[in-house]
Amino acid sequence: MTTFDDLKALLLTDRSVRRFDTTKPIPRDTLLRLVELTRYCASGRNAQPLRYRLVTGEAERERIFPTLAWAGYYQDWDGPSPAERPTAYLVQCLDTELGNNCLCDDGLQLQAITLGATTLGLGGCIIKAFNAPALAKALEIPERYAPRYVLALGVPAEKVHIVEMKDGDFKYFRNANDDQCVPKRPLSELII
Ligand SMILES: Cc1cc2nc3c(=O)[nH]c(=O)nc-3n(C[C@H](O)[C@H](O)[C@H](O)COP(=O)(O)O)c2cc1C
Repeated sequence: MTTFDDLKALLLTDRSVRRFDTTKPIPRDTLLRLVELTRYCASGRNAQPLRYRLVTGEAERERIFPTLAWAGYYQDWDGPSPAERPTAYLVQCLDTELGNNCLCDDGLQLQAITLGATTLGLGGCIIKAFNAPALAKALEIPERYAPRYVLALGVPAEKVHIVEMKDGDFKYFRNANDDQCVPKRPLSELII
């Protein structure tokens, strides 16, 4: 049985990673294992309207990279260099034949996938800032499936630390060691 402390430790480890070890590819089977986790998530109306396009091949990865925007707070960084790019992506899509609203299914499923990826030693970044028409075209995703999020995945090649939030400044930053630092609000601030 998973304990509360196990779950907390996993959540603490499950950070957004944007630089990856490109020498360590992710097998397609691993992506299938991660998507399988989404079957057990709660779903509004139990409609389960989300679908996933798996991306592992180099040609497809190169085609979709320019459609993604990375780390909006880093004005002078255009995202990972070719030597540190994600080795796989999951494109989460809404099956519009099942409706045009997935309530919070998308976030629940993304979190299940990132937690699962963390247990496998993988890291990832949820990406909402992407050019959906260009992405759908690059991957020839049928019109029926509307891309909602892109999840970039790989073996992490950067360290990420949770840090105390100072003066309400929630912008993440890189420290002197070039590690990613993510301010989180204290519990006391979350309670109204
Ligand atoms: C809904 C959502 C959308 C996000 N979109 C982007 C994005 O477009 N590009 C990006 O680099 N990071 C994106 N992120 C990652 C956030 O920047 C990251 O979760 C935040 O800085 C906190 O860091 P943490 O995930 O390590 O806790 C997104 C995260 C969420 C939950």
